[in-house]
Amino acid sequence: MNVHDSEKMAGVLSGEGFSPTDDPAEADLIIYNTCSIREKAEQKFFSELGRVKSLKRRKPHVKIAVAGCIAQQKGKAVFRRAPHVDLVLGPQNIHLLAGLIQHDRRAVANEDNPFIAESELPVLRKPGGRAWVSIMYGCNNYCSYCIVPFTRGRERSRPSGSVVREVRGLAEDGFREVTLLGQNVNSYRSDVDFPGLLRAINATDGIERVRFVTSHPRDLSDNLISAMSELEKVCEHLHLPLQSASDEVLKRMNRGYSFDEYRKKVDALRKRVNSLAITTDIITGFPGETERDHGDTVEALKDIGYDGIFAFKYSPRPGTKAAVMDDPVDDAVKTSRIEEILALQDAVTLRINSALENTVQEILVEDPARPTSSCPQAERGPTRLLIFLRSTFTQERL
Ligand code: 5AD
Ligand code: SF4
Repeated sequence: MNVHDSEKMAGVLSGEGFSPTDDPAEADLIIYNTCSIREKAEQKFFSELGRVKSLKRRKPHVKIAVAGCIAQQKGKAVFRRAPHVDLVLGPQNIHLLAGLIQHDRRAVANEDNPFIAESELPVLRKPGGRAWVSIMYGCNNYCSYCIVPFTRGRERSRPSGSVVREVRGLAEDGFREVTLLGQNVNSYRSDVDFPGLLRAINATDGIERVRFVTSHPRDLSDNLISAMSELEKVCEHLHLPLQSASDEVLKRMNRGYSFDEYRKKVDALRKRVNSLAITTDIITGFPGETERDHGDTVEALKDIGYDGIFAFKYSPRPGTKAAVMDDPVDDAVKTSRIEEILALQDAVTLRINSALENTVQEILVEDPARPTSSCPQAERGPTRLLIFLRSTFTQERL
């Protein structure tokens, strides 16, 4: 979502005559598009921000902007910590970017924007096979650990006609795969619900694959399972964050499902969607997580056999309910639990991927040739292939 927001900022700026550069020394405007989902992202950002201080001293005309969730949360406090910043812009205020960079004074735009779903911002995408498309904004769930509802505001769905129009345009521009984006796509509702939107996009000529993130297990409906099994363009992949398999922990996380309910949905999905790949998110060391709770999660990973997972050490976010919960887990314990989980998952992923050896799979050619250390022969070949197995989730590091 953050990467796609950057594409929108680039879109707005290209309308103002800007073009992107990879070299900060060449830039007239530098925007940090920040993430505050975990503390580490925040720390990294502030140390990065320190680095452009000397550049600003040498070239005072260069504008420095801080966008994204840290901007939303900290507002003008960013100026106190980093006086060389000119503009602070929350993720619901990207539409104001063009106007704000015209001013000579410092500015903060971190208001809640109730019209975000109606605003159709230009998007500057790298040409290629795949494109992100926003279908909804914000989140109403308030999982107790999560900062997103505070930074991205209330849930709002984009009208289906507007989404379909964008997808049609993408097909005309040569994109073949779209990933629909929302914090909780299963609660999408405009004139149609989410399965209805998938049906409309499935009927768009030129688009060959449709993916979506993220699904909330509580809101995953039978209708969605039917749509996934019937619609030929919808990829057989579902990202379904579990977070923990302990009912006690799930309750304290305010996730709204028990492990048993989650497990039954996985069974129903696998029964009806052939060769479905399932991936998930796991948090280790949530406050009060016992060895037994952790053991439940380890067992669930063995039992479900995910194609891939993203695992995170719990990181307290100021202002959330979990940040003030009793019984924090030591960092060393969080680390040993996440390491155990990642090692187990590596073995599971390898087993699942190995079963695909010597099979024939559809691929999407994504990028023109660019030699890399792992693929120096790209220099010689016309095309570097990034191979996506239709039925598996390919983690970035692979
Ligand atoms: N600490 C650790 N992980 C978190 N996530 C969200 N908030 C936190 C937090 N405070 C993880 C969840 C979510 C993913 C996007 O990030 O697993 O699904
Ligand atoms: Fe955060 Fe929960 Fe909303 Fe996901 S569903 S964005 S974890 S509050």
